[in-house]
Order: sequence, then structure tokens, then C-alpha cells
Amino acid sequence: MKITFAPAQIPTQGHAVIPVALGQKLGELGAKLDKKTGGALKKAMTAGNFTGKKDEALSVVAPPRTKIGRVILLGIGKPEELTEASAQNLGGGAASALIGVKAAQGAVIADIFKGGKLSPAEFAANLAFGARLRGYRFDKYKTKKTPDSAALKGCAVETVDVPGARRAWAALDAVAEGVELARDLVTEPANTLTPLSFAERCKELAELGVKVEILDEKAMGKLGMGALLGVAQGSALPPRLVTMLYKGDPAAKDQSPVALVGKGVTFDSGGISIKPSGGMEEMKYDMAGAAAVTGAIHALAKSKAKANVVGLIGLVENMPSGTAQRPGDIVTSMSGQTIEVHNTDAEGRLVLADVVWYAQEQFKPSAVVDLATLTGAILVALGHEYAGLFSNDDGLAGQLSAAGAATGEKLWRLPIDEVYDREINGDAGDIKNISGGREAGSIIGAKFIQRFVKKGVAWAHLDIAGTAWIKKPLATVPKGATGYGVRLLYQYVTARSAGA
Ligand code: BES
Ligand code: MN
Ligand code: ZN
Repeated sequence: MKITFAPAQIPTQGHAVIPVALGQKLGELGAKLDKKTGGALKKAMTAGNFTGKKDEALSVVAPPRTKIGRVILLGIGKPEELTEASAQNLGGGAASALIGVKAAQGAVIADIFKGGKLSPAEFAANLAFGARLRGYRFDKYKTKKTPDSAALKGCAVETVDVPGARRAWAALDAVAEGVELARDLVTEPANTLTPLSFAERCKELAELGVKVEILDEKAMGKLGMGALLGVAQGSALPPRLVTMLYKGDPAAKDQSPVALVGKGVTFDSGGISIKPSGGMEEMKYDMAGAAAVTGAIHALAKSKAKANVVGLIGLVENMPSGTAQRPGDIVTSMSGQTIEVHNTDAEGRLVLADVVWYAQEQFKPSAVVDLATLTGAILVALGHEYAGLFSNDDGLAGQLSAAGAATGEKLWRLPIDEVYDREINGDAGDIKNISGGREAGSIIGAKFIQRFVKKGVAWAHLDIAGTAWIKKPLATVPKGATGYGVRLLYQYVTARSAGA
């Protein structure tokens, strides 16, 4: 969807979204429009029981004395409580309302309210960001136009400070691109998004100054990545490991980057420990961690963020076949530790074992953050609202939680006590990839990955199995692929580099 900024003026035609504060309070332009229509907006609010509380919307069709199609009144609550995140949610609400009336274009008025803490430019840019993200669509495989396929193609955000809004928009625009990239990758089916084609998409980041390197299975074999390769061996599609290095702060004294590691299982059938067929189609999203990392690197590079960061993604397909690994197989990871594969469906941790180890060997990172759709158990624990956070470092956990709160991509920390370790101590090998039972499934997954984190390295694992894909839309997220993690990682990396 295309965002433009335009000078604030009383709308005369088309569809316009106008914010309203609690108590039916219109802003400057809203009040003028109400006057022009002979009080039609106020009358509609009263008749429609519309108070202006957050998330309320009321459509006024063809208000008198204008050529406007609809005025959509959008409740904002108390203006003094507006934050960047709530302005984004409002923008999402505006887009959702416009989509609801099948509008192709709409104006969103970033009206002025007394007591608001955001500057007019910030308000406008954040409205735009939310609208853009809520207006995302993936329709490349739709061959027919139906009434339902009418798309919201553009939003004009009207503000008294167009130049300021455009300045504030630059970074948000880059983040929106990153989120859209992640959603595109996740939504793409596994017959077209393969380890190879995913790696090809990553190469495009070179245009933004990112150093992209791709390891094939031969290179990974030389490095001893038996855990990752064991997962890949059942598939006809060869695996890839992509590293994306962005050095946006060459002046930094400590050159060591933050490493962002992503699970990129382009399809997870379960392998020989095959999954039930119901819902298996969803397992195309098992590369959402890798997509989030790729989207975040895109956003950081595109916005020329002052930060040093490297993204590493392990791309494999998990399939059953005559060459697939069997339950009971023992593989040797790059770290040298041997792993008993008791369940081939616990494959994400096997992939991450080698990628996390490689990240530390190759880049000596100041922190490692991995993102993975790792366990169904995290859905049981946290649903779709929070991703699970596991960390060996309170500082890092705090920074990530703060970034989550600021962006609305929320995190909830879970324990990784040593008491869980005995569950995954191996019998014939060093480590088992599952425990004996169903208890604490997400923690067990995290504990497994932790075995591949070197002493003294700050590490966090985000289990995003519940947040990467949703069946009901959120304020700034249509249903389907969320792009969860891009905003969070962008915020974490930029705040960290700013020393916040
Ligand atoms: N990719 C799945 C986890 C998953 C489940 C992601 C649902 C998204 C939605 C992962 O590879 C997996 O299969 N995990 C197993 C682990 C078990 C075998 C210990 C699980 O959660 O059942
Ligand atoms: Mn699996
Ligand atoms: Zn998986």
C-alpha cells in the first residue's frame, strides 16, 4: 500500500478517516468539517452511541453539503495518552475501516488535539506506519478479481507538518518494508520458497550494503555441521546457510556485531516422526524466524541504522524419505557434541545448534539472539499474544523485553534453570533432542539450544511459534503471516546502539 503525506485540509471528497477523542471531542479539522456539514458528525456520534473511546469506529455516509463518500470517525481515547504504539494501532484501525468499506483510497487526517504528547509529525508518521502494515496483502496467486479482492491501494495522511512527517517516516518506511518482506517470505508456499530460493532473495540485500554469504551443503559438511545436515538429508532440496553482515557503525570501538539467528525450515513435515495431516499446510511458516531476521537486516540497512549486526539463517526442508534421518540416529554437531535424534520433528533445535555455534565461531558476537518457531508448547503457554523469551543474561532479556513493549511485539520470559538439563542428557550420545515427556516443552527446546552457547556469551532465544502466524487480525496485522520480530529486532538493535 502506498503512503503519501499531504497538507491538512477539510476533506471535500472521497473517504476520510477522522480521529475523535473521548467525549465526542473533534480535533481542529474535524470540528471545521462538522460545522460545514451543519453538525452532521456530532449528530451521528450521538445517534450512534459513539463516545470516542479507543478502537470505536463510526461510518457517516455522504455527510450533507459535501461530496464526501464517507467520514469514518475513529475513537482515540484520551489524547494525552497517545503513544507511538497507540498511534500505530489507530492507523491500523483507519486502514481496517477503509478496507471494511472496500475503499481503494482514503485520507487519514492526523488532526490536532489539545494535550497530545506526540508532535503532529510523529502522530502522522505513526498513523501512516500502522495503516501501511494493516493494509498489507498477499495476492500474487489470485487470478480472479472478486468484490472481496478490492484492495486499499493508497492512504494520504494529512498533517500540518508534511516535511516533519516525511522525516519521521523515513525509518518507519524502512521497517515497514522489512515487515512486508518477512510476511511475503512466510506466506510464500514451500514449493516456491525453498532453501535455495530463500537464499536467492537474501542476495538482494547486497544492494543495501549488506555483505551476503551463502554456504552450500559441501561447505557445511567441511565445517562439520552434522546436526543441520541430518535434518536436510531427507529432502530432495539442498540446504543453505546465509549470513548477512551489516556494518552501519564502522566507528564503533567494539566492532563485534550482534548476531541474529533464524530457524528457516521451509517446510516441516516432521520427517520420519511425521506430523498428523490436519493443519500440516501451516508448516510452511516454520521459517518465520529466518524471515524475521532477514526483514530486520533489510530494515536496518535500508534506514542506514548506526549499528553492527549480522543475520544468520539456517535453511532446510524437513521431509521423510529413504534418505531421511531416523529416530535413534546419532549426529555430530559442529561444536563436537553428539546428539541423539529421538524425534525427527524436533528439527529446529538441530538446525539452530549448528547455526548458533557457527555464529559464535565466525563473528565473536557481543550477543546472540535466535528466533524460531520452535515448539507447539509455546502456543499452549502464551497463545498468539506473547512470544517466549529465554535468556542467560538479565541485561539482554531486559533490552529485548523493553523493545517488545515499545513495539507491541511482546515477550514473556520463561525460566531456563539447570534443573531441566537432566531431561536432555543423552544415553548413547551427549544430548537428546527431546525429553521423555510433554512437560515444559518450550523450556526443553531452549535448554537444548543453550548447550551450543559458549561460556560468557549473552544469548536469548525467542520462541515465536505462536506469534508468527495468526488466524484473526490484530490492530496493525492482517491475518496470516505477522512478520513478528522485525519491529522488535529493529528496536532492540537501534536502542542498543544508541546506548539506551
Ligand atoms: N515447527 C514445529 C513447532 C511448531 C508447532 C511451530 C506449531 C508452529 C506451530 C517444531 O519443529 C516441532 O515440530 N516441535 C515439536 C517438538 C516436539 C517433537 C518435542 C512440537 O512442538 O510438537
Ligand atoms: Mn518439527
Ligand atoms: Zn519445525
